[in-house]
Amino acid sequence: MIIALNNKSNLDRNEFLTYQEGLRKLEANSTLIVCPTYLNVNLVNLTNIHHGAQNVSCTNNGAFTGEISAKDLKAAGVEYCIIGHSERREYQRESLTEVHEKLLRLLENDITPILCIGETKAQRENNEVERVLKEELETAIEGLTDEQKNRLIVAYEPIWSIGTGIIPTIEEIEEVFRFIKTILPNTTILYGGSANEKNIDILKTSPLIEGYLLGGLSLKPVELQTFINKLENR
Ligand code: 13P
Repeated sequence: MIIALNNKSNLDRNEFLTYQEGLRKLEANSTLIVCPTYLNVNLVNLTNIHHGAQNVSCTNNGAFTGEISAKDLKAAGVEYCIIGHSERREYQRESLTEVHEKLLRLLENDITPILCIGETKAQRENNEVERVLKEELETAIEGLTDEQKNRLIVAYEPIWSIGTGIIPTIEEIEEVFRFIKTILPNTTILYGGSANEKNIDILKTSPLIEGYLLGGLSLKPVELQTFINKLENR
């Protein structure tokens, strides 16, 4: 199992340093990945958790004010990077082409992309789930070799579930996971959206879910350990 922690735009320097001491105590058989803010990326100093980031520039180093390149992330020790999160697609108007470029920059720099995809509530109600996910996936992976596709991690995050406390049914999740596998048969797929220490008992009944991308829960190491214990039957 993979458990990726998306801190989003949370934890200032001192808060992160305290939080990191909580993370240091986590015990898990799963692969844990912490994705802090850019400013906290260089503070990561953990042996039990892999090093991630939340975003990357579409471009290599150059005259791109405010951007952080994949090369710079690599030099900072980053091994995994989230791209295409629905919050960036919505608030930063990140396009399908930009997500594709980001994915390429990560692969060029030997960083594993965690590609987020997901539909809105309206799209689900209009039976557009497969259309939306197919478009987000196929544009992102265009031109990739099979070997590159197998290096990806996909995170299915229904937008209506993120931060709402509502999770899809296991049937809804499995339907989507099976669909993603028709496009990317060998790619690891995570579930994200309000996953927590309470609903993990339900989520873990699905053999298709290969890990989780956690937002709110990522900030709470004690509850996170409960989540891990339940997931791993510890
Ligand atoms: P929540 O776990 O807070 O719903 O966030 C999920 C998410 O967006 C992780 O990337």
